[in-house]
Amino acid sequence: MITVSVHPTAEEACATAASEVIKGLRIRPELVLGLATGGTMRAFHAALARLHRSEGVSFARAMIFNLDDHVGVPADHPQSFRRFMRETLFDLVDVDPARCFMPDGMAQNLDAAAAAYDRQISAAGGIDLQILGIGRNAHIAYNEPGSAHDSRTQVVALAAQTIKLAARAFAPAAPPRRGLTMGIGTILEARRIILIAGGADKKQAVARALAPPPRTACPASALQRHKDVLFCLDSAASFGADRLGFGARMPM
Ligand code: F6R
Repeated sequence: MITVSVHPTAEEACATAASEVIKGLRIRPELVLGLATGGTMRAFHAALARLHRSEGVSFARAMIFNLDDHVGVPADHPQSFRRFMRETLFDLVDVDPARCFMPDGMAQNLDAAAAAYDRQISAAGGIDLQILGIGRNAHIAYNEPGSAHDSRTQVVALAAQTIKLAARAFAPAAPPRRGLTMGIGTILEARRIILIAGGADKKQAVARALAPPPRTACPASALQRHKDVLFCLDSAASFGADRLGFGARMPM
């Protein structure tokens, strides 16, 4: 079931998602948390860091599994996802770096690295709470349109639109064309999922994700198959927000 919560601003949508993580950590300090990268996550990570300080809740015993990595982008590259996580979150909270994982897009053998990542997640007991963003084409992690809903962590070709969006950040170098991503099947095994989206450019993707039935043309529609998903949206990303009113929760 997908529940939708609509907030006046993206910051408030992020704060709601962050408070769910903090609640999770309070109940289970060893929480296995799945995290994402991208513009949406900046405000979410800032909210998490703020709550960590104000509520005195620790990440030290939590485990973190990131969704994806670019293939061939080294950890110290300005656009690397590892660097993004360090700068937006890990340096601001008390995570144990030995308990933070990301698929290794620099691995010699990417298929072996992908399979190893799924084994690591299983060995941790599975993901308790997975945070997702959504692409304008409704991708989740780097599972682009056409991805099977039972896919495992794997190497994928990025969609033309995804490459184009990344191009400016990587210029003058060429943007990466492949990703190493948790599969949709891997994501659906998380016990709880929170998707965060803000801005009018996400509205159509959100509407498609919520429209039944689940279909491979729309990766985020796979979330309809899960029993516990929360969409934290701002009003601009929320189709029908006017009808629902701010803060409305709409069981799907
Ligand atoms: C990245 C990821 C992607 C992003 C999506 C939205 O780890 O999982 O699916 O969540 O591309 O990115 P932004 O927030 O930059 O619009």
